[in-house]
Amino acid sequence: MKTSMELAIVWLVRAAWIAATLPIVIAFIPSSKLRSFHQLVLGFVGRGKILQHSSSQKLTVPQRFFAHFYVIGVACTTLLLATTWMFACKVAPLSSSEEFQLSDIASRLTGGGSHVFSFHKSHLTPVEHRLEVWRAVFLLILMETQVVRRLIESIYVFKYSPSARMNILGYLVGICFYTGAPFSLCVNIAPEVARFAGNQVAEFIANGKGHSSSPEVDLVLSISPLMKLGLCQLIGGAVFLWGWLHQRRCHAILGSLRESPRQANEYIIPHGDWFEMVSSPHYLAEIVLYAGLVIASGGTDITIWLLFSFVVGNLTMAAGETHRWYLRKFENYPANRSAIFPYVY
Ligand SMILES: NC(=O)c1ccc[n+]([C@@H]2O[C@H](COP(=O)([O-])OP(=O)(O)OC[C@H]3O[C@@H](n4cnc5c(N)ncnc54)[C@H](OP(=O)(O)O)[C@@H]3O)[C@@H](O)[C@H]2O)c1
Repeated sequence: MKTSMELAIVWLVRAAWIAATLPIVIAFIPSSKLRSFHQLVLGFVGRGKILQHSSSQKLTVPQRFFAHFYVIGVACTTLLLATTWMFACKVAPLSSSEEFQLSDIASRLTGGGSHVFSFHKSHLTPVEHRLEVWRAVFLLILMETQVVRRLIESIYVFKYSPSARMNILGYLVGICFYTGAPFSLCVNIAPEVARFAGNQVAEFIANGKGHSSSPEVDLVLSISPLMKLGLCQLIGGAVFLWGWLHQRRCHAILGSLRESPRQANEYIIPHGDWFEMVSSPHYLAEIVLYAGLVIASGGTDITIWLLFSFVVGNLTMAAGETHRWYLRKFENYPANRSAIFPYVY
């Protein structure tokens, strides 16, 4: 049973996602009365080329500060992954007969397991709870592969133009996002993991460095539960990988557009991969890979759905503006391209 403090943490995280998404949803309402609100939200969401020549250039930071997001994302995700994985091995081990496929597929396909859209642990049997812990480990591994790649890309692949800026509030939201996103993937078990980590540290200090036994790492115990994933994790992992690979390709295309330093401030029409269908395929790929996380979570966690909603709203808005910018900038812009969702928007 969760304590009221644990429940409060879950609801606080959910409230934060709702508060971040709501202004974007309101800004999408096609009403002339909301035009100035739409411009205001766009000022915060906009960056790089879609913030150029805008009146909202004042409170801005260089767009290359995007790398800060991923430094924070890597630090938070690595910390959460390491502690959750250790917790999973020591406190929530799974025997082979208990691994994902049994309860995961059976309870979800039959609609059993009354924890649908709930986070009350009283509904979870100990085995179900242990599965929840291992699912969190799996989600954090996926997140780690994303933030590490993005950090490498922001340093080595993208060639940010010196004039590209982003709004300071957008920058702060980005910092919060890369702290909140990995935390949301494991928020249901985070208090237990934090208590476990605290105990480990206290034990380490009490025993003293010299007397502490060397950490026992049982590779089979640490990895075998992840090797026998349930159907949701397999499908979610595959969808995530699909989005991940396309985003990597699209980022490589964007990074290759400015071939010489003289082109540092130039914008060129990108071609190849999903660019043939939409103007912001890297944003579409991001949505696909977060959809993979939702599926891999089992699709029953409201917090992860709210995180996903923010990603969809934020990137759809930026993509719509990017598309309009391309149409204004290039007379020969391919007419068949949608903004972000092929044939839809
Ligand atoms: N999860 C989330 O909520 C979230 C939020 C934001 C971003 N992201 C992800 O972060 C990644 C980067 O986003 P972003 O908004 O920074 O992308 P972006 O504005 O498209 O910029 C990416 C890089 O490509 C350059 N570039 C873009 N279009 C170009 C063109 N036509 N010609 C030449 N260079 C061009 C930009 O140059 P400039 O420096 O001149 O702009 C920048 O260096 C995306 O994959 C996105 O999905 C995720």
